[in-house]
Amino acid sequence: MASATERESWRPEVIPGRLIVLRRHRAENLRAFMRWYSDPEVARLTRYQQAPLSHDEVQRFFYSRIMGSDFLAMAIHVRDTDRLIGTCAFSQLDGDNGSTLYHITIGEPDAWGKGYGTEATELMLAHAFTRLALHRVALTVFEFNPRAIRAYEKCGFVVEGRARQAIFRDGRFWDEIHMSVLLEEWEERNRPR
Ligand SMILES: CC(C)(COP(=O)(O)OP(=O)(O)OC[C@H]1O[C@@H](n2cnc3c(N)ncnc32)[C@H](O)[C@@H]1OP(=O)(O)O)[C@@H](O)C(=O)NCCC(=O)NCCS
Repeated sequence: MASATERESWRPEVIPGRLIVLRRHRAENLRAFMRWYSDPEVARLTRYQQAPLSHDEVQRFFYSRIMGSDFLAMAIHVRDTDRLIGTCAFSQLDGDNGSTLYHITIGEPDAWGKGYGTEATELMLAHAFTRLALHRVALTVFEFNPRAIRAYEKCGFVVEGRARQAIFRDGRFWDEIHMSVLLEEWEERNRPR
C-alpha cells in the first residue's frame, strides 16, 4: 500500500501555477459540475452525445470518477481570486506502460481563451512526467474544437492519428483527433536554456 507521503506526491493538495492553481477537488465542487455539464456548448465540445449530462449522470460521474481513485482529477482555480473555473484529470493511468489519458474542461465560458487551459495542461504534464514518472500522455479532441487543439499544441502535444468521421455534429461528420506528448519531447521543450 502507498504511504501517505507517496499518495500526497501522486495526488497533491495543490499544484501552483502563474495564472491558476490546481487544487484537489472537494465535495462542494459538485454544484459547479452540475452547472458546467448542463451547458449545451460544453456538451458539444466534450461529449459524443448531443445532450448534456443529466443531474444524476453528473452526480455519478463526480463521485465515481472525480472523487474516486481511478482518476487523478484536479480543480482549476484562478490564482488571484481562487474562483473555481474547471477541472482536469488523468484517467487510465497505466503504470506498466507509463501512459495515461488527459482530459480538461473549463466549465465557465467567460474563462475561455485567457491562457488558463494551457497553463493547467502544462502543470499536469509536469506532474505526469516528474512526480508520476510517466512516459506518454495522450488525449482525444474533436476536429471542430480549434481552441482546444491550439492549447494542446502549445503544450507540446502532436497529432498522432485521427478516427475519421467518428462524430456527427452540426449536421456533418468530423474526425476525432488523437494527440500525445512523450517524455523525451517534454524534456526537450522544458530543458533550461
Ligand atoms: C479547451 C480549453 C481547455 C482551452 O483552454 P483555454 O484557457 O480556453 O485556452 P488558452 O487560452 O490557454 O489557449 C487557447 C488558444 O487557442 C486559440 N484559439 C481560440 N479560438 C481559436 C480558434 N477558433 N481557432 C484557432 N485558435 C483558436 C487562442 O488564440 C489561444 O492560442 P494563442 O495563445 O496562440 O493565441 C477550454 O477552452 C475549455 O475547457 N473549453 C470547453 C471544454 C473543452 O473544449 N474541453 C476540451 C475537450 S478535448
